[in-house]
Amino acid sequence: MRPTPRTSSPRRYLMCPPAHFSVTYSINPWMDPTKPVDLPLALAQWEDLRDRYRALGHTVELLTPDPALPDMVFAANGATVVGGRVLGARFAHAERSDEAAAHLSWFRRNGWPEEAVRLPEHVNEGEGDFAVTASWILAGRGFRSSPLAHGEAQEFFGRPVIGLELVDPRYYHLDTALCVLDDARDEVMYYPAAFSPGSRAVLARLFPDALIATEEDAAALGLNAVSDGLHVLLPQAAVGLFEPLRQRGFEPVGMDLGELLKGGGSVKCCTQELRP
Ligand code: ARG
Repeated sequence: MRPTPRTSSPRRYLMCPPAHFSVTYSINPWMDPTKPVDLPLALAQWEDLRDRYRALGHTVELLTPDPALPDMVFAANGATVVGGRVLGARFAHAERSDEAAAHLSWFRRNGWPEEAVRLPEHVNEGEGDFAVTASWILAGRGFRSSPLAHGEAQEFFGRPVIGLELVDPRYYHLDTALCVLDDARDEVMYYPAAFSPGSRAVLARLFPDALIATEEDAAALGLNAVSDGLHVLLPQAAVGLFEPLRQRGFEPVGMDLGELLKGGGSVKCCTQELRP
């Protein structure tokens, strides 16, 4: 089989430097507050990701880190932007709830009109649980985002929202278990065991040609990846994903975000996409 010809398209990302990153509480099984974090290393790893995006021709916008919010580096959780419309986040845990306002005020200060920005009614953790394909918005639930937020997103964006039930606490956000590889073609990779049987059947029906990740690669957070249509930036430890990605015509780019993994996040968690 010949690989599909791939092209990258320029993206705009919102990121937040891990200047105050630490693991002081535990709201997912990856977080162990007794394990020390190497802050300078976390910063260097994050800068490497930011620089990589820029070298690939993408725009990276920056959010100012708040010393009271150690998880703020995981910028994907702060909002969901589709078609220039911004659905703010409402966090499930009090420890992160103030991040939502920081994101909303960034959008208001950076040119998004008031009517395009929504303060959400229901709990949703932004792109942690919303993934955008050509035809649908895939939406995770079970650990963080409320199923009611799925309806709210559908109404706000005017796109069909497909609810997916997460069942394994290690994969508490959709973006830890599924990655959109090509948002012009409805192409994804995912780890089936992270989903309920019904949601697995939905995924198999919508994405019969999906790249299926092994448990090992999923456990390296290999699905917490970002694709620009050609380059797929992913945790370098997810070695089993590289060859299948190449066979499909993608260029995998391995990143080391080992310090941020201690917070339960990697490439995608650090990256919110601002879709025009
Ligand atoms: N410590 C953060 C939390 O548990 C990690 C968030 C990771 N972000 C993501 N998009 N999966 O909320």
